[in-house]
Amino acid sequence: MKLGTIRLVLWSLVAFAAVGLVTAYGVLHWTDDGAPSGKAQAELGAPFSLLDHTGEPITEAAFAGRPTALFFGFTHCPEVCPTTLYEMAGWIGELGEEGKDLMAYFVTVDPERDTPEVMQSYVTAFTDRITGITGDEGEIARLADAWGVYHKKVPLEDGDYTMDHTASVFLVQPDGQLQGTIAYGESNDTAVQKLRMLLGS
Ligand code: NI
Repeated sequence: MKLGTIRLVLWSLVAFAAVGLVTAYGVLHWTDDGAPSGKAQAELGAPFSLLDHTGEPITEAAFAGRPTALFFGFTHCPEVCPTTLYEMAGWIGELGEEGKDLMAYFVTVDPERDTPEVMQSYVTAFTDRITGITGDEGEIARLADAWGVYHKKVPLEDGDYTMDHTASVFLVQPDGQLQGTIAYGESNDTAVQKLRMLLGS
């Protein structure tokens, strides 16, 4: 082959690899972002029996009949969860009267540490409009799985552990249908706009 041809072949390979990487990143990022899979959609509304942050029983009935924002995380989260709860409180504040029917839930994926007491002091530090949900570890895992939420315990070097988890907020219509998600880091305006759409549905 001539040098020019070899160069062309090499560049084609580079371009091909780049497209592959971008595609792979897109797919992984999409998955990591918790965009709901077909499986999650089919199982939305999966029954559960857990506790709210006051220690009262809570079931799937809580997600029915009202527009709902649903977020999974854990109170020891260094960044994503406190940021998201802070932002959620801001969105609700911005909606004001318009958002009075919106329900908002923060489900822990770390029930081992997040007792109702821990959830209460954590969630109420942001707003009185978000209800914390915790309870039996198996029930929590089943609920998270039913929503297609990735959650994994990751040991830390000091013997402690952290949790990897999906960072999207799920927007659920009053009839239990998933309307969409708010991704971590999405702009305040977009998030509020999506919530307005949810409230109008
Ligand atoms: Ni988190």
